[in-house]
Amino acid sequence: MRVGILGAGRLGSALATALVAAGEQVKAVSSRTVRSAEHLATALGAGVAVLAPQAVADSCDLVFLTVPDAAIAALASEIRWREGQWVVHCSGALDLGPLSGAVRQGALVGCLHPLQSFPSREGGAARFRGITCGVEGSNPLGRVLEELVGRLGASVVRLEGVDRAAYHAAAVFASNDVVALMAAAREAWTLAGLSAASARTSLVPLLLGAAQNVAEHDLRDALTGPVARGDVDTVRRHLAVLGDSELGALYRRLGAELLTLDLPHDAATSSALRDAFAAGAG
Ligand SMILES: NC(=O)c1ccc[n+]([C@@H]2O[C@H](COP(=O)([O-])OP(=O)(O)OC[C@H]3O[C@@H](n4cnc5c(N)ncnc54)[C@H](OP(=O)(O)O)[C@@H]3O)[C@@H](O)[C@H]2O)c1
Repeated sequence: MRVGILGAGRLGSALATALVAAGEQVKAVSSRTVRSAEHLATALGAGVAVLAPQAVADSCDLVFLTVPDAAIAALASEIRWREGQWVVHCSGALDLGPLSGAVRQGALVGCLHPLQSFPSREGGAARFRGITCGVEGSNPLGRVLEELVGRLGASVVRLEGVDRAAYHAAAVFASNDVVALMAAAREAWTLAGLSAASARTSLVPLLLGAAQNVAEHDLRDALTGPVARGDVDTVRRHLAVLGDSELGALYRRLGAELLTLDLPHDAATSSALRDAFAAGAG
């Protein structure tokens, strides 16, 4: 199976690197700029050609469109695909609609979406190991993508019939919004009179510890801290210092979310926590 990559950005580079490490034959790459394509081809090693998008499609059996979401439909439509050729995008937020231009020409289309963040073009193979990838596509393509995901050391969740916006929102909560939480933590840190510069290094071990707890236990058992202990007085003191600020509103909303975990508190403690998060500083 000859694999082609259209879009030598962060994911395209990581995916191509991981596929080569898994023994797959990435034969050709293309990108908006020759520089990106050449950079990737060089990293992948001998035998990988830098070609125009149409030539990549012509010379490969399985083609990944790893361009930004907004560019997928236009790119898929401007290429002449072969009957039965495999065309795959990697967006979590999009269904197969943007590939309809390829479907009209008889191609089989699919999606392979790694539930992982790729902040740079390097380090691809390791970042696939142990993750889950969303996969969509009718057979034989669906089966091929499942096998590829397995060879990358990842697991599969099938996306047929899945609401892609909600699925992708879940990924944003688990990934991007963790960064938002760290921004909020830094604000509270500076409110305490500590320097913003020391926030990240001081708080990151807490973040990693919490992530490890979530990885090892169900959510209810992973939770530590005042809400888990039913320490209503401490929660009230937090709310008093945060007040009616946006930070206070965020703290209350997240606290209310923690109470959906069905924590083993007596009725009076549950009610006091619920009231505290509903009422805020007052
Ligand atoms: N990065 C992640 O963490 C991640 C995770 C999961 C899924 N994805 C998905 O992977 C896909 C690519 O995302 P990315 O983060 O890798 O983006 P990216 O780093 O911006 O890379 C996209 C590449 O596509 C090329 N490109 C940009 N605009 C284009 C256009 N209009 N037409 C053709 N090529 C164009 C660019 O090439 P040049 O460098 O040559 O300009 C760029 O390197 C998206 O569908 C995204 O949803 C990304």
